[in-house]
Amino acid sequence: ASDAGTENVDRLRASTLDLAVRPRRNRKTEWSRRLVRENLVTADDLIWPLFIIEGERHREAVPSMPGVERLSVDEAVAEAERAASLGVPAIALFPFTDPLLRDAIGSEAFNEDNLVCRAVRAIKERVPEIGIMCDVALDPYTSHGHDGLLDGSEIMNDASVDVLVEQALLQARAGADMIAPSDMMDGRVGAIRRALDAEGLNTVQIVAYSAKYASAFYGPFRDAIGTSACLIGDKRTYQMDPSNTNEALLEARLDLEEGADILMVKPGMPYLDVLWRLKETFKRPTFAYQVSGEYAMIEAAAANGWIDHDRAMMESLLAFKRAGADAVLTYYAATVAERLKRG
Ligand code: PBG
Repeated sequence: ASDAGTENVDRLRASTLDLAVRPRRNRKTEWSRRLVRENLVTADDLIWPLFIIEGERHREAVPSMPGVERLSVDEAVAEAERAASLGVPAIALFPFTDPLLRDAIGSEAFNEDNLVCRAVRAIKERVPEIGIMCDVALDPYTSHGHDGLLDGSEIMNDASVDVLVEQALLQARAGADMIAPSDMMDGRVGAIRRALDAEGLNTVQIVAYSAKYASAFYGPFRDAIGTSACLIGDKRTYQMDPSNTNEALLEARLDLEEGADILMVKPGMPYLDVLWRLKETFKRPTFAYQVSGEYAMIEAAAANGWIDHDRAMMESLLAFKRAGADAVLTYYAATVAERLKRG
C-alpha cells in the first residue's frame, strides 16, 4: 500500500498548472509571512476594562468571566501599575455598586466620593502615566438597571442627559482623561462637551459609544457589576437594533458633530462590518469593545478544549485591527501585553 502511495505522489508531482500568480509563494516561509503581514496587534492597541468594588486588599471572581475579578481600589491601583509597566496605554473603570446604594435616579452617580471617583483619584496619583476612561451611564447606580431615568416604563431622554452630564463632570473633576458615554441617549455627547468646556475641562476626551447595540453579549458584564438580577425589561428603546448599520452611520455622524473625539463600536466581533463602515466613512479614531460575552465564549470553548485559548484570543484581536480599529477594549489586555512582551 505504501509503495502505491509513493507511486501516486510521483505521478501527481508531474502535474503542473500554468499559473502566473501563485498567492501561496508569499506564504511559503515564516520570514516571508512576516514581511507581507498587513496588520499587527501591539500593546499600544489595548484598553483594559477593570471592575471596582469596595474593600481593601480584596478581589472576587466573576463566575461568568473566568480570569476576571472585581478589585478593591488598592488592588486596582496595583493592576493599573502592572498595565502601565506592560505598555498598556489606558484602562476603563466600571464599579460594582453596593445594592443598598442603588435607587430609582442613580443618586450614587452624583456622589463625588463614589467608588469610581475614588478609584480615578487613587490611580491618577500613583500611576499618572496611564489613561483613564470612565463610562457615563446610570446602570451601575439605578435600582432598575437602566442607563437613564425612567418615567413609568419609559426612559426620559432629555432629563437623563441632564444627569449624565453631572456624572461626566464628577468623573472629569476626579481626573478621568476620557469620558465614554455608553447610555445611547440622543444629544448626550454635545451636552457633555459643552459642560466640560464651560468648566475649563476642554482637554478631556470624549469616546462616544456611537454604535452600541442592544446585545445579548453583555450578559457577563451585567453579572460583574451586579445589574443582571435587577434589570427590568430591556434596553431596546435606546441601544441600537442589531439589524441596522445605516443607523450606526447616523449615530456616529451626530456624535462627531457634537464633539466626539473618538468613535466606538460595541459589541466587537459580531459587528466588524459596522466597525469597517464607520472607519471607511469618517476616517476618525475608532475603537471596538470586545465585550464580556465575547470573552466568555472564548474562555468557555477553551476550557472545554474545543479551541486553542491563546490563538483564539490573538486572532480575535487581530480581526479588530484588520477591520479598522485603532484600539480595542478587551478583558485580555494585560494577558496579551504580557504575552507580547515575552515575545
Ligand atoms: C453600561 C455598559 C454595558 C457595557 C459597558 N457599559 C452594559 C449594558 O449596556 O448593559 C457592556 C460591556 C461588556 O459586556 O463587556 N451602559
